[in-house]
Amino acid sequence: MKGVVLAGGLGSRLFPLTKITNKHLLPVYNEPMVYYPIRKLVEAGIKDILLVTGGQNAGDFLRLLGNGEAFGLRQFNYAYQVGEGGIADALRLAEPFADGSPLCVILGDNIIEGSIAHIAEEFRQRGRGAHIVLKEVADPQRFGVPVFANGRIVRVEEKPKIPASKYAVIGIYFYDNTVFDRITRLVPSGRGELEITDLNNSYLEEGQLTHSILDGWWTDAGTFESLRLASNLVAESVEKREEDE
Ligand code: G1P
Repeated sequence: MKGVVLAGGLGSRLFPLTKITNKHLLPVYNEPMVYYPIRKLVEAGIKDILLVTGGQNAGDFLRLLGNGEAFGLRQFNYAYQVGEGGIADALRLAEPFADGSPLCVILGDNIIEGSIAHIAEEFRQRGRGAHIVLKEVADPQRFGVPVFANGRIVRVEEKPKIPASKYAVIGIYFYDNTVFDRITRLVPSGRGELEITDLNNSYLEEGQLTHSILDGWWTDAGTFESLRLASNLVAESVEKREEDE
């Protein structure tokens, strides 16, 4: 399995912090935001990693991450997204890199406490379809939200005004190699983007989408509130780890 970190976008909800830099380069406690999703992939044994970014600060990622030395890697891969076509549009750029392999895709502003190693291992063994990860949250209307019927997900809704469940679809996704054909069939949403939620629904419609519930905390870091929360949660984890040592 290969890994893809999506680190593009304008980060407009963090303006003016993002006026002169990319959101994923901002600090979360003591490290740049993008370090956290990369480390989760490496911890799960995924060492072949592509970072997709765009805009004016793409070169800064190269200076920051180099060949992935900070993560014990010897090589790191980059792709450049022209324009702002949405998350699924950014993922499209990973097709030559994936070269038929299943993928773990992680949004560069998603930070989790625990490990994804067991989820990655289960998906590796299954080898087909897609897998999403859910977390119960207080504000599901900010996220992709699963709609359940008889204990099964029947649909995922993107930022619904009235959420049908208390769960958010977090920004860690597992896809088989049909993902790129599916992206070409997507149509832009109301906000003019190819939505990852529509991609997930395309698997769901064919009975090919499984899910699990995440243990431990999760947050995105794309708003002032969530960025502050992310820093606080990471700081608490670091302190706890130091106390335990
Ligand atoms: C994106 C996805 C959404 C998902 C979220 C997780 O939202 O569109 O489905 O729940 O990431 O962080 P965005 O951060 O682009 O608003």
